[in-house]
Amino acid sequence: MSQSREIKRYNTAQAAAEAIATYIEKLIPSFSERFDMALSGGSSPKILFDVLADKFAKKNFWNNVHFWWSDERCVPPGDNDSNYKMAKEHLLVPLGIESDHIHRIKGEILPEDSSKEYSNEIMESLKIREGVPVFDLILLGMGPDGHTASLFPDQMNLLKSDKCCEVSFFPATGQKRVTFTVKLINNAEQVILFVPGLSKQQRIKEIFSGEEQASKLPVNYIRPIHGRMIFFLDEDSAGLL
Ligand code: 6PG
Repeated sequence: MSQSREIKRYNTAQAAAEAIATYIEKLIPSFSERFDMALSGGSSPKILFDVLADKFAKKNFWNNVHFWWSDERCVPPGDNDSNYKMAKEHLLVPLGIESDHIHRIKGEILPEDSSKEYSNEIMESLKIREGVPVFDLILLGMGPDGHTASLFPDQMNLLKSDKCCEVSFFPATGQKRVTFTVKLINNAEQVILFVPGLSKQQRIKEIFSGEEQASKLPVNYIRPIHGRMIFFLDEDSAGLL
């Protein structure tokens, strides 16, 4: 039973992204059949996606990989806010990933319908353990408020969901989101949190020093039951550890 959280810290976000890329390079080929990995959104992943695209564009080990998203903004796929659009530009097109290996969240339809449809697709596609789908790898980020995926501190009720996906909203704008739930994330084999930057420093300190405040942070509830969880930090985000 794994509940530990590992920390790997690097001088810069770029160095941390390169370390994640090396970790993924070792992880994926060990899977002979399909490998289901979920991407997160925001700006940090761009650094990682560019490293993956540069480093592995020629490798054919992506052939077994199916790409999913841990969350999506409820906008059309061509919208600049779309996590899918960012990943397509920085990773999927450069790697030449086939469309049948890309499973995007439909941001253009009713959020409740999109959440249900995505949950069903995940249930029908992935390995199931104790009734819950198993991702081989989930890449997450963390916001300065301690949110992860699109699970926000002012919507802690969602943390108790027994579904695979839920509808949430970005507090600052009310923008609807579709997000993985804690239940789904905690059933993954590997969870990587790529959390660089000074704006994350205080939250990282709260999480790793077990402060009471951490109980108000959704990221604090990410604890894979069977899997491995690694925080990849830079000197800014790890500065108070
Ligand atoms: C999203 C992400 C979100 C992100 C954090 C960190 O859709 O915005 O999934 O959870 O990972 O907000 O974003 P940055 O890496 O841009 O700080």
